[in-house]
Amino acid sequence: MKVTVVGAGAVGASCAEYIAIKNFAAEVVLLDIKEGYAEGKAMDLMQTASLNGFDTKITGVTDDYSRTAGSAIAVITSGIPRKPGMTREELIGINAGIVKTVSSNLVKHSPDITIIVVSNPMDTMTYLVHKTTGLPKHKIIGMGGALDSARFKYRLAEAMEAPISDIDGMVIGGHSDTGMVPLTSHATRNSIKVSEFLSEERLQQVAEDTKVGGATLTKLLGTSAWYAPGAAVSGLVQAIACDQKKMFPCSTLLEGEYDLDDICIGVPVILGRDGIEKIVNIPLSQAEKTKMQESADGVRKTNGLLEL
Ligand code: 2OP
Repeated sequence: MKVTVVGAGAVGASCAEYIAIKNFAAEVVLLDIKEGYAEGKAMDLMQTASLNGFDTKITGVTDDYSRTAGSAIAVITSGIPRKPGMTREELIGINAGIVKTVSSNLVKHSPDITIIVVSNPMDTMTYLVHKTTGLPKHKIIGMGGALDSARFKYRLAEAMEAPISDIDGMVIGGHSDTGMVPLTSHATRNSIKVSEFLSEERLQQVAEDTKVGGATLTKLLGTSAWYAPGAAVSGLVQAIACDQKKMFPCSTLLEGEYDLDDICIGVPVILGRDGIEKIVNIPLSQAEKTKMQESADGVRKTNGLLEL
């Protein structure tokens, strides 16, 4: 199984490292446009192979998409990250052109590829990949909800002073500071609803902290986060590569599901060898349905900035 990661920046390199450590891929091609940068990151990562116990071959290339040929899966992380105070949506001017070029190049050398989009504004970039490549919708996946759900679980565990392994929770909707929908009504601590442990007020604070999880880190780091984004997308890659039939919230093209059409936004899906094998309809409260519609309005507004 060959996987390509486009963008050898912090997120891309972390993603490549986590894929390698999970040891399910024969090769990870790490591609960047900066001369020698991906080669350097790949060599450094390969020098951890004996230390971290993986056999995956990580190959760095500079802007040569012929080396990605035959990839089953590609992760697009390329583009600029946000700076403190910026929204993800403000990145569209630069990142749209990059994602359009990258996705076209990937499909040219691997016509049957499954593409996972990380670049922001992610839901709109995922929609752009549909419009650019014409790949079947089950082969285009946006990674945002898996990351946001990890941050949701982190905040829930913090609030309950519980081990994260006890916590389950999901965030759907747009991957934006205002559009995320943390499903507080569904979250559990070891199968018990978290509302048994937390007041409504504290639960709402957890939801709000989750929504700005990325911005919180960007303020601390001076740039976007990379460990959790890299880990989150590596889990999606593994689910597809190993045909795990795992459920994740992913940005996918909706055609009537959740009363939404012609939009990419985060909903629960089953990931397996064919990419998005099923969109899962889950019961939402009226408040959650309203939040999803409002979130979709925000994504559509950003989509409107695309020059398709
Ligand atoms: C984040 O939320 C980069 O959008 C990503 O950290």
